Amino acid sequence: MRTVEWDEVKCQIRLIDQRLLPAELRYLSFGTPEEVIWAIREMVVRGAPAIGVTAAYGLALAAQNSSAVTLEALREELQDVAHALVTARPTAVNLRWGVERLMKKVMQEDVTPQELKKTLLHEAHQIAEKDIQVNLRMAKYGAALIEDGDTIIHHCNTGALATVDWGTALGVIRYAHQSGKRVHVLVDETRPRLQGARLTAWELQQYGIPFEIITDNAAGFFLQRGEVNKVFFGGDRMAANGDVANKIGSYMLALAAKDNDVPVYTVVPTSTIDRTLAHGGLIPIEERSPEEVLDIQFQGQNVVPAGAKARNPAFDITPARLLSGIVTEYGVIYPPFDSNLASLFLSHPITIR
Ligand code: MRU
Repeated sequence: MRTVEWDEVKCQIRLIDQRLLPAELRYLSFGTPEEVIWAIREMVVRGAPAIGVTAAYGLALAAQNSSAVTLEALREELQDVAHALVTARPTAVNLRWGVERLMKKVMQEDVTPQELKKTLLHEAHQIAEKDIQVNLRMAKYGAALIEDGDTIIHHCNTGALATVDWGTALGVIRYAHQSGKRVHVLVDETRPRLQGARLTAWELQQYGIPFEIITDNAAGFFLQRGEVNKVFFGGDRMAANGDVANKIGSYMLALAAKDNDVPVYTVVPTSTIDRTLAHGGLIPIEERSPEEVLDIQFQGQNVVPAGAKARNPAFDITPARLLSGIVTEYGVIYPPFDSNLASLFLSHPITIR
């Protein structure tokens, strides 16, 4: 299954429409950067790595569509598109990372517009391929943390659907299962957009991994009863000290896990680590439309009274002190996270950025 794809023939980006799953597996094609920005905002495509790759393709697409005849004119056009792409969703740093990687080529290469178009598409393909390789590496390192018979709470969707393919935290669980370990997943439904109940449950069914869906607020119950061995989730942006922004509810889950001595692991590629931010309080948090909270129905009726208001932060910050380990493509990082993350970047300066 490939969540983000480039269609060579039509010169378009092909995405799984994640709004329709699990009822329908439909692919949509996007031929302009404006459409791609819309797809990211509306969460046709979602998950930090998947939107990072989509944004890179979005910029490459803008270049392919451009009729600019000079390098300067093309550069100007792409700068505007890059800005619009980066601001489509503010929390996941992969979005900025993907766009910046291409913009570096845009600003540095002294070539013809035609050559730059080729370079950008090539770069976007490379980012997409690397995403899969990186996920497989994290899966291998992370799966070593899982023991035969473990029950794992997983939050949001971090599988193939959240990446180009394979996944981050769910990729770890999938790898453990494929290596013959018996794992059982308690799937947080993940209010308000239900990425767990809709997407993670659907993926686990495809892979034949046993699971049960739980309401987000039941996690503490199972943790307290000793029915959970580990908690795994992904990340949308990690600060230099290891604080991590992830789907709303991750913080409460990590708190309840800590209180019950259950280890919490976050699985993040190094492209999700924002070393420019010293701590999680500096990470911008996306607030989405209140309708995502208010529009819920029960037995065919609106749940909330007419005129009710709502708040809808899409992410929260789990402080590094609640994490037991950070799984990256270079191995598992343990506390103290600030110095160990700094050493990681020192030992892999070129491959990471
Ligand atoms: O709002 P979403 O669905 O894009 O949020 C996704 C998450 O929070 C994931 O847990 C995160 O991107 C890491 S998974 C690869």
